[in-house]
Amino acid sequence: MIKSTPMQKVTINTLFRKKSEGGKITMLTAYDYPFARVVDEAGIDIVLVGDSLAMVVQGLENTLPVTMDEMIYHAKMVRRAVSNAMVIGDMPFMSYQASVEDAVRNAGRFLKEAGAEAVKLEGGLELADKVRALSRSDIPVMAHIGLTPQAIHRMGGFKIQGRGEEAAQRLLEEAKGLEEAGAFALLIEAVPMALAQKITKSVSVPTIGIGAGPHCDGQVLVLHDVLGIFERFLPKFAKRYTNLKEESLRAITAFKEDVENGVFPSEEQSFK
Ligand code: KIV
Repeated sequence: MIKSTPMQKVTINTLFRKKSEGGKITMLTAYDYPFARVVDEAGIDIVLVGDSLAMVVQGLENTLPVTMDEMIYHAKMVRRAVSNAMVIGDMPFMSYQASVEDAVRNAGRFLKEAGAEAVKLEGGLELADKVRALSRSDIPVMAHIGLTPQAIHRMGGFKIQGRGEEAAQRLLEEAKGLEEAGAFALLIEAVPMALAQKITKSVSVPTIGIGAGPHCDGQVLVLHDVLGIFERFLPKFAKRYTNLKEESLRAITAFKEDVENGVFPSEEQSFK
Protein backbone atom coordinates (compact mmCIF):
# COMPACT_ATOMS: atom_id res chain seq x y z
CA MET A 1 0.00 0.00 0.00
CA ILE A 2 1.23 3.51 -0.75
CA LYS A 3 1.96 5.38 2.48
CA SER A 4 0.19 8.70 2.76
CA THR A 5 1.67 11.28 5.15
CA PRO A 6 0.23 14.74 5.64
CA MET A 7 2.30 17.13 3.59
CA GLN A 8 3.21 20.75 4.11
CA LYS A 9 3.70 23.48 1.57
CA VAL A 10 7.31 23.53 0.42
CA THR A 11 8.94 26.95 0.46
CA ILE A 12 12.49 28.21 0.14
CA ASN A 13 12.74 27.85 3.93
CA THR A 14 11.95 24.13 3.65
CA LEU A 15 14.84 23.69 1.22
CA PHE A 16 17.31 25.56 3.42
CA ARG A 17 16.17 23.57 6.45
CA LYS A 18 16.70 20.33 4.56
CA LYS A 19 20.22 21.41 3.61
CA SER A 20 21.12 22.33 7.17
CA GLU A 21 19.64 19.12 8.59
CA GLY A 22 21.16 16.90 5.92
CA GLY A 23 17.78 15.86 4.49
CA LYS A 24 17.63 15.27 0.74
CA ILE A 25 15.60 17.52 -1.56
CA THR A 26 13.59 15.83 -4.32
CA MET A 27 12.70 17.49 -7.61
CA LEU A 28 11.04 16.22 -10.79
CA THR A 29 9.81 17.87 -13.94
CA ALA A 30 6.14 17.95 -14.92
CA TYR A 31 4.44 19.62 -17.83
CA ASP A 32 0.72 18.99 -17.42
CA TYR A 33 -2.09 18.55 -14.89
CA PRO A 34 -2.36 14.76 -14.48
CA PHE A 35 1.35 14.06 -14.09
CA ALA A 36 1.88 17.11 -11.87
CA ARG A 37 -0.90 15.78 -9.59
CA VAL A 38 0.91 12.48 -9.19
CA VAL A 39 4.28 14.14 -8.57
CA ASP A 40 2.76 16.40 -5.91
CA GLU A 41 0.84 13.55 -4.28
CA ALA A 42 4.09 11.55 -4.02
CA GLY A 43 5.50 14.34 -1.84
CA ILE A 44 8.20 15.58 -4.21
CA ASP A 45 9.56 18.91 -2.94
CA ILE A 46 9.95 20.81 -6.22
CA VAL A 47 8.13 20.52 -9.54
CA LEU A 48 10.10 22.04 -12.39
CA VAL A 49 8.20 23.00 -15.52
CA GLY A 50 11.36 22.29 -17.48
CA ASP A 51 12.21 23.46 -20.97
CA SER A 52 12.95 19.75 -21.53
CA LEU A 53 9.29 19.74 -22.54
CA ALA A 54 10.59 20.75 -25.96
CA MET A 55 12.12 17.29 -26.28
CA VAL A 56 9.92 14.97 -24.21
CA VAL A 57 6.52 16.56 -24.94
CA GLN A 58 6.94 18.49 -28.19
CA GLY A 59 9.24 15.92 -29.82
CA LEU A 60 11.92 18.45 -30.80
CA GLU A 61 15.64 17.74 -31.19
CA ASN A 62 16.77 20.06 -28.39
CA THR A 63 15.37 22.65 -25.98
CA LEU A 64 16.09 25.77 -28.01
CA PRO A 65 12.79 26.24 -29.89
CA VAL A 66 10.34 26.21 -26.97
CA THR A 67 8.81 29.66 -26.44
CA MET A 68 7.94 31.71 -23.39
CA ASP A 69 4.21 31.49 -24.23
CA GLU A 70 4.42 27.70 -24.45
CA MET A 71 6.24 27.52 -21.11
CA ILE A 72 3.56 29.68 -19.48
CA TYR A 73 0.81 27.48 -20.97
CA HIS A 74 2.35 24.37 -19.39
CA ALA A 75 3.22 26.09 -16.11
CA LYS A 76 -0.44 27.08 -15.67
CA MET A 77 -1.54 23.44 -15.99
CA VAL A 78 1.06 22.33 -13.48
CA ARG A 79 0.15 25.12 -11.05
CA ARG A 80 -3.50 23.98 -11.02
CA ALA A 81 -2.41 20.47 -10.04
CA VAL A 82 0.12 21.19 -7.33
CA SER A 83 -0.79 21.92 -3.70
CA ASN A 84 2.38 21.30 -1.72
CA ALA A 85 5.45 21.27 -3.93
CA MET A 86 7.29 24.42 -4.95
CA VAL A 87 6.62 25.16 -8.64
CA ILE A 88 9.56 26.50 -10.65
CA GLY A 89 9.31 27.83 -14.20
CA ASP A 90 12.27 27.20 -16.49
CA MET A 91 13.26 30.26 -18.52
CA PRO A 92 13.47 29.18 -22.19
CA PHE A 93 16.29 30.06 -24.58
CA MET A 94 16.31 33.77 -25.49
CA SER A 95 13.84 34.76 -22.80
CA TYR A 96 16.65 36.20 -20.62
CA GLN A 97 19.94 36.18 -22.53
CA ALA A 98 19.57 39.49 -24.36
CA SER A 99 19.02 41.86 -21.46
CA VAL A 100 18.30 42.28 -17.78
CA GLU A 101 14.95 43.77 -18.74
CA ASP A 102 13.98 40.68 -20.76
CA ALA A 103 14.97 38.51 -17.82
CA VAL A 104 12.87 40.45 -15.30
CA ARG A 105 9.82 40.77 -17.57
CA ASN A 106 9.78 37.12 -18.63
CA ALA A 107 10.56 35.75 -15.18
CA GLY A 108 7.81 37.99 -13.84
CA ARG A 109 5.35 36.32 -16.24
CA PHE A 110 6.01 32.94 -14.60
CA LEU A 111 5.02 34.33 -11.20
CA LYS A 112 2.24 36.67 -12.31
CA GLU A 113 0.51 34.65 -15.06
CA ALA A 114 1.31 31.06 -14.12
CA GLY A 115 1.61 31.24 -10.35
CA ALA A 116 5.13 29.80 -10.23
CA GLU A 117 7.14 30.51 -7.11
CA ALA A 118 10.60 30.77 -8.65
CA VAL A 119 12.40 30.56 -11.97
CA LYS A 120 15.45 28.71 -13.24
CA LEU A 121 18.09 30.13 -15.59
CA GLU A 122 20.97 28.34 -17.30
CA GLY A 123 24.47 29.79 -17.35
CA GLY A 124 27.47 30.94 -15.36
CA LEU A 125 28.83 34.20 -14.03
CA GLU A 126 27.61 36.09 -17.10
CA LEU A 127 24.16 35.69 -15.52
CA ALA A 128 25.09 37.44 -12.30
CA ASP A 129 23.53 40.80 -13.22
CA LYS A 130 20.28 39.09 -14.18
CA VAL A 131 20.19 36.96 -11.04
CA ARG A 132 20.78 40.11 -8.99
CA ALA A 133 18.01 42.03 -10.79
CA LEU A 134 15.55 39.16 -10.37
CA SER A 135 16.31 38.76 -6.68
CA ARG A 136 15.83 42.50 -6.21
CA SER A 137 12.46 42.15 -7.97
CA ASP A 138 11.47 39.44 -5.45
CA ILE A 139 11.72 36.68 -8.04
CA PRO A 140 13.64 33.75 -6.52
CA VAL A 141 16.18 32.25 -8.93
CA MET A 142 17.64 28.77 -9.20
CA ALA A 143 20.85 28.97 -11.26
CA HIS A 144 21.59 25.99 -13.52
CA ILE A 145 25.33 25.39 -13.98
CA GLY A 146 27.56 22.70 -15.52
CA LEU A 147 25.99 21.17 -18.59
CA THR A 148 23.49 23.78 -19.73
CA PRO A 149 21.48 22.28 -22.61
CA GLN A 150 20.58 25.70 -24.06
CA ALA A 151 24.33 26.09 -24.80
CA ILE A 152 24.44 22.82 -26.78
CA HIS A 153 25.91 24.51 -29.86
CA ARG A 154 28.66 26.31 -27.91
CA MET A 155 29.52 23.14 -25.98
CA GLY A 156 29.49 20.98 -29.13
CA GLY A 157 26.91 18.57 -27.71
CA PHE A 158 25.71 17.29 -24.35
CA LYS A 159 29.12 16.97 -22.66
CA ILE A 160 30.28 16.49 -19.06
CA GLN A 161 31.49 19.84 -17.66
CA GLY A 162 34.07 20.75 -15.02
CA ARG A 163 36.61 18.04 -15.90
CA GLY A 164 40.22 19.04 -15.23
CA GLU A 165 41.50 21.43 -12.59
CA GLU A 166 40.95 24.67 -14.47
CA ALA A 167 37.39 23.87 -15.53
CA ALA A 168 36.57 22.63 -12.02
CA GLN A 169 37.91 25.82 -10.44
CA ARG A 170 35.90 27.93 -12.91
CA LEU A 171 32.69 26.07 -12.05
CA LEU A 172 33.35 26.47 -8.34
CA GLU A 173 33.84 30.21 -8.81
CA GLU A 174 30.62 30.39 -10.85
CA ALA A 175 28.70 28.63 -8.11
CA LYS A 176 30.00 31.04 -5.47
CA GLY A 177 29.39 34.07 -7.72
CA LEU A 178 25.80 33.07 -8.44
CA GLU A 179 25.13 32.52 -4.76
CA GLU A 180 26.59 35.94 -4.08
CA ALA A 181 24.34 37.43 -6.81
CA GLY A 182 21.29 36.10 -4.97
CA ALA A 183 20.47 32.65 -6.38
CA PHE A 184 18.53 30.69 -3.74
CA ALA A 185 19.66 27.32 -5.14
CA LEU A 186 22.01 25.82 -7.71
CA LEU A 187 21.13 23.07 -10.15
CA ILE A 188 24.33 21.22 -11.12
CA GLU A 189 24.14 19.11 -14.28
CA ALA A 190 26.62 16.52 -15.55
CA VAL A 191 29.78 17.26 -13.57
CA PRO A 192 32.15 14.87 -11.78
CA MET A 193 30.72 13.92 -8.39
CA ALA A 194 33.76 15.09 -6.40
CA LEU A 195 33.37 18.57 -7.87
CA ALA A 196 29.62 18.64 -7.13
CA GLN A 197 30.44 17.63 -3.56
CA LYS A 198 33.00 20.42 -3.27
CA ILE A 199 30.52 22.98 -4.62
CA THR A 200 27.82 21.70 -2.23
CA LYS A 201 30.17 22.16 0.72
CA SER A 202 31.34 25.59 -0.47
CA VAL A 203 27.95 27.29 -0.82
CA SER A 204 25.26 27.89 1.75
CA VAL A 205 22.38 27.51 -0.74
CA PRO A 206 20.97 24.06 -1.59
CA THR A 207 22.43 22.24 -4.60
CA ILE A 208 20.28 19.95 -6.74
CA GLY A 209 22.17 17.50 -8.91
CA ILE A 210 21.41 15.72 -12.16
CA GLY A 211 24.32 13.60 -13.26
CA ALA A 212 26.35 15.16 -10.45
CA GLY A 213 26.62 12.22 -8.06
CA PRO A 214 25.08 11.53 -4.66
CA HIS A 215 26.58 14.35 -2.59
CA CYS A 216 24.35 17.24 -3.71
CA ASP A 217 21.63 18.42 -1.33
CA GLY A 218 18.99 17.06 -3.67
CA GLN A 219 18.37 15.27 -6.95
CA VAL A 220 16.30 16.06 -10.02
CA LEU A 221 15.30 13.94 -13.00
CA VAL A 222 13.12 14.43 -16.05
CA LEU A 223 9.77 12.78 -15.25
CA HIS A 224 9.45 11.11 -18.65
CA ASP A 225 12.80 9.34 -18.04
CA VAL A 226 11.66 8.15 -14.59
CA LEU A 227 8.41 6.81 -16.06
CA GLY A 228 9.96 5.28 -19.17
CA ILE A 229 7.68 7.12 -21.53
CA PHE A 230 10.42 8.94 -23.47
CA GLU A 231 12.29 6.33 -25.45
CA ARG A 232 14.49 8.29 -27.85
CA PHE A 233 17.43 8.05 -25.43
CA LEU A 234 18.14 7.69 -21.71
CA PRO A 235 21.10 9.70 -20.36
CA LYS A 236 23.64 7.66 -18.34
CA PHE A 237 22.67 9.61 -15.21
CA ALA A 238 18.93 8.95 -15.48
CA LYS A 239 17.03 5.96 -14.11
CA ARG A 240 13.80 4.39 -15.40
CA TYR A 241 11.58 3.33 -12.50
CA THR A 242 8.84 1.90 -14.69
CA ASN A 243 8.04 1.39 -18.35
CA LEU A 244 4.95 3.45 -19.00
CA LYS A 245 5.48 3.24 -22.75
CA GLU A 246 5.04 -0.55 -22.66
CA GLU A 247 2.17 -0.41 -20.18
CA SER A 248 0.38 2.19 -22.30
CA LEU A 249 0.95 0.17 -25.45
CA ARG A 250 -0.53 -2.90 -23.74
CA ALA A 251 -3.64 -1.00 -22.62
CA ILE A 252 -4.23 0.71 -25.96
CA THR A 253 -3.75 -2.53 -27.89
CA ALA A 254 -6.24 -4.25 -25.56
CA PHE A 255 -8.82 -1.50 -26.24
CA LYS A 256 -8.27 -1.82 -29.99
CA GLU A 257 -8.72 -5.60 -29.87
CA ASP A 258 -11.84 -5.34 -27.67
CA VAL A 259 -13.49 -2.93 -30.12
CA GLU A 260 -12.51 -5.03 -33.14
CA ASN A 261 -13.79 -8.22 -31.46
CA GLY A 262 -17.05 -6.66 -30.23
CA VAL A 263 -16.06 -7.05 -26.56
CA PHE A 264 -16.16 -3.32 -25.82
CA PRO A 265 -18.53 -1.74 -24.97
CA SER A 266 -20.34 -4.44 -23.03
CA GLU A 267 -23.70 -4.02 -21.26
CA GLU A 268 -21.80 -2.60 -18.31
CA GLN A 269 -20.69 0.41 -20.34
CA SER A 270 -24.05 0.83 -22.12
CA PHE A 271 -27.31 2.60 -21.18
CA LYS A 272 -30.69 0.85 -21.02
O1 KIV B 1 14.43 21.32 -18.33
C1 KIV B 1 14.75 20.42 -17.57
O2 KIV B 1 14.09 19.38 -17.47
C2 KIV B 1 15.96 20.58 -16.77
C3 KIV B 1 16.55 19.37 -16.12
C4 KIV B 1 17.92 19.63 -15.65
C5 KIV B 1 15.78 18.81 -15.02
O3 KIV B 1 16.46 21.65 -16.66
